[in-house]
Amino acid sequence: MKLVIFGATGMVGAGVLREALAARDVEAVLSVGRRSCGVAHPKLRELLLSELFDFAAVEDQLTGHDACIWAVGISSVGLDEAAYAKVTEELTLTWARALLRLNPGLSFCYCSALGAGGRSMWARVRQRVEGSLRAMPFRHAGAVRPGFIRPGPGIRSRTRAYQAGLVLLSPLFVFVPLLLRALPGLFTTSERLGRAMLRVVEGRADRFILESADINRIGG
Ligand SMILES: NC(=O)c1ccc[n+]([C@@H]2O[C@H](COP(=O)([O-])OP(=O)(O)OC[C@H]3O[C@@H](n4cnc5c(N)ncnc54)[C@H](OP(=O)(O)O)[C@@H]3O)[C@@H](O)[C@H]2O)c1
Repeated sequence: MKLVIFGATGMVGAGVLREALAARDVEAVLSVGRRSCGVAHPKLRELLLSELFDFAAVEDQLTGHDACIWAVGISSVGLDEAAYAKVTEELTLTWARALLRLNPGLSFCYCSALGAGGRSMWARVRQRVEGSLRAMPFRHAGAVRPGFIRPGPGIRSRTRAYQAGLVLLSPLFVFVPLLLRALPGLFTTSERLGRAMLRVVEGRADRFILESADINRIGG
């Protein structure tokens, strides 16, 4: 499988990238983003764009792919719906449509979030993204809705406040096996999430929306 990953500089995307590079059936990975993900690997190539909306000039580098994993995301804190939707909805769907046009038969996995089924502004935007992706003619598609994620070694959140919280909570990470058993609906790890997103684009997920317990089940 030839895979495109978005968001590999962030916590979720870095976990997916690590699992993808380790997976035997992943032949090549193209990481698209604003900054280098800082990983060197024979399977990995990076495409850096200062503005992700501006990719018309590099379309020739975007063909020949089997699947895309989308882990770009921002916090809704302090944003109105238009600003939050610009990245969460418009950027995601612009790329999803372009990649599908350039790669008929593409599979797609989207990283949503726990609570996306709710009524708040951010959840409504997420539902629109999930619904639009579900209606597109991908070969295989799905949306994961993780809750709390224990990052793998060396993986950090790009969101400063979130990273600070992770550092404070890190002593609890010794209880990961217990937390996975006791709270599978709230808690996962970047390894399980990365594997679950790969399973989605491989067509091995049994539903479109994968809540945390589903992520732990198929990514375990
Ligand atoms: N971390 C969690 O515990 C958690 C839990 C549930 C759901 N999620 C969801 O998972 C997704 C990824 O979260 P994360 O924790 O990996 O976040 P993160 O560590 O803050 O990383 C965010 C990623 O998105 C990219 N990005 C943000 N805005 C962008 C823009 N305007 N243009 C291009 N790239 C942009 C960042 O790239 P740059 O390096 O260029 O900034 C980075 O790669 C989000 O949708 C988040 O809501 C995360």
